[in-house]
Amino acid sequence: MKQLVRNVKIIGTGSYVPETIYTNEYLETIISTNAKWIEENLGIKERHIASPNQATSDLAAEAGLEAIKNSGLNIDDIDLIIVATTTPDRIAPSTAAIVQDKIKAYNAVAFDIAAVCSGFLYSMSIASQFIAAGVYDNVLIIGADTFSRITDWKSRDAVFFGDGAGAAVLSHGNVNEGFLALRLYTDGRGKWNFTVPAGGSEIPASHETIDNGSHYFQMNGRAVYETGTEVLPKAINQVLNDTGLTIDDIDYMIPHQPSVGILKKTAEIIGLPWEKVMTNMDKYANTSGGTIPILLDEVNKAGKLKRGDTLLFAAVGSGWTYGAAILKWS
Ligand SMILES: CC(C)(COP(=O)(O)OP(=O)(O)OC[C@H]1O[C@@H](n2cnc3c(N)ncnc32)[C@H](O)[C@@H]1OP(=O)(O)O)[C@@H](O)C(=O)NCCC(=O)NCCS
Repeated sequence: MKQLVRNVKIIGTGSYVPETIYTNEYLETIISTNAKWIEENLGIKERHIASPNQATSDLAAEAGLEAIKNSGLNIDDIDLIIVATTTPDRIAPSTAAIVQDKIKAYNAVAFDIAAVCSGFLYSMSIASQFIAAGVYDNVLIIGADTFSRITDWKSRDAVFFGDGAGAAVLSHGNVNEGFLALRLYTDGRGKWNFTVPAGGSEIPASHETIDNGSHYFQMNGRAVYETGTEVLPKAINQVLNDTGLTIDDIDYMIPHQPSVGILKKTAEIIGLPWEKVMTNMDKYANTSGGTIPILLDEVNKAGKLKRGDTLLFAAVGSGWTYGAAILKWS
């Protein structure tokens, strides 16, 4: 289905990463890996890790409060909170309900969505439909994850992820500003290429699941690379087609941060100069739902974005889930 959403814009951004940093050199001391290899192949130098008393909702609440402040709205103006996360505080209730209470946004309906690394892009689309339809005026969307809690710290795959949260407030816009196109895709045939097997209804937590480590994430890195470099260009070309824009019209790409290799290959395929591709995986690694909003907040607060700039968002994640969006900054 074509998902063209108009007149919904971003009016505030925020982000939060925990204080503790695990450098590549530190990881060398706990697992069999190589700091130089991580930096050269993945583009990562370090990642932030939540402290034992921090859950995903704590990171999400900090980012959310900052985004509301940046938007100029009051807490009570928020009609809806969507939290995109793969690492909820608990199976029940939703992390969004916990965040609603932590930031005291009691006028807001709140729910989580699960689309792993594409979660923030999915949230942008869901929020846009509510605003475009006139159901809600101001929506706080948050991408927040603490993958350190589902990481096997004895496995070399522990190098890929970090913890963090980013947020944006979406609201009404005028014609020719805000989202010009937004496309989401799902392909469940790829569902086991990134998965956390145990702890759900299929394989409930047990002594056995703890013993065999099936409560940790499992990733097929090669499949992620091959799929990412195939579907990101596909989604991007589709939103360019939807808008009648060309790749030369894009001022900045603000993508999910899986690995520098996937992004470089994608930029090459779509013909976007690498200088226009924003990255911050060197500092934060892959924060899953957090990547796009943390990066957007950094680029925004650095004063890079001018009114009328054309931004390209794109993400790929477990599911497979993927998509892209084009937004006129205002
Ligand atoms: C991870 C990735 C670089 C691995 O490359 P690959 O050629 O597909 O996979 P291989 O497992 O055969 O690894 C090749 C070599 O890379 C090196 N390597 C792989 N993972 C490593 C790690 N964590 N630390 C150090 N070296 C590593 C090793 O030298 C390995 O050779 P070995 O198996 O003989 O030790 C690549 O698949 C990739 O970039 N995938 C994307 C993953 C991603 O973005 N995940 C996050 C989003 S879900």
